[in-house]
Amino acid sequence: MSRVTEIRYVGYGVADFDAEKAYYADVFGLEAVPSDDGLAWFKAQGSDEHHVVRLRPAENNRVDVIALATDSRNDVDALCEKVKAAGAKIVHDPRELTTPGGGYGFRFFSPDGIQMEISADVARSGKRDLARWEGVPVKISHIVLHSPDHQALIRFFTDVLGFRISDWLGDFMCFLRCNSAHHRFAILPGPPCLNHVAYDMLSVDDMMRGAHRLKLKGVDIGWGPGRHTAGNNTFSYFVTPGGFVTEYTSELEEVDFDTREPTVYTPAPMVMDQWGIGVGGPQTLPHPQPNPGLFVTSEA
Ligand SMILES: [Fe+2]
Repeated sequence: MSRVTEIRYVGYGVADFDAEKAYYADVFGLEAVPSDDGLAWFKAQGSDEHHVVRLRPAENNRVDVIALATDSRNDVDALCEKVKAAGAKIVHDPRELTTPGGGYGFRFFSPDGIQMEISADVARSGKRDLARWEGVPVKISHIVLHSPDHQALIRFFTDVLGFRISDWLGDFMCFLRCNSAHHRFAILPGPPCLNHVAYDMLSVDDMMRGAHRLKLKGVDIGWGPGRHTAGNNTFSYFVTPGGFVTEYTSELEEVDFDTREPTVYTPAPMVMDQWGIGVGGPQTLPHPQPNPGLFVTSEA
């Protein structure tokens, strides 16, 4: 069955283009990908994904697109048919992509109006083996979304995009996998918007060394350091100049994609964070607001 198998990148529109570019390149630890299209593209050095972040100068800070991978062009075509059959609004049918790295893909709006892309055959880039203590991201780990009908969005991810449920936190937070990582998405109630994007770090030492670099550059931890229970991953959250939440995480649990059975965890402080020594909490991160421009196609 055709399904999504990985996250590719998140495209943002940002009001302060230079500040957001400087954050990813000089503070967070991504690497600029050359382009002449007036946009800023960044890759994570530990992965051969062509790029993981795309920035566009915009009036408002908004998520423009969340791009996902599938295995082949046939899977792109099949997933487009499934997305259409589910009643989602198509932005464009499968075609050759003109973004850096090329590939073949289609765009659509999630049931909540967030633009998404599914592609295959995107060029791979160079990568290198990161060393302990470098403290820079390996790759995107996971994306967390809010939804006004989170159960419906979870069903869209499972029934249409082919995700499987790995765990639940109560009945409100659902962790979804599309490969052997415990989760690549999680979905929470709330206005239609992004909650955060997390990046895998080589080790917990790399998460802490990365947090040290951010601190030296004036960005304090918004929540963390800590270790979640679902997925057993460590976390430290940081807010970008544009108000988007980014996370360093490490040691995310590996699971069997086909056989994993979900656990339902009862929400409690030591479940959200098994260490219990970090600063802040979800309440100290930016309050979720509806993503500007729902069901509106971005310029890129
Ligand atoms: Fe996270």
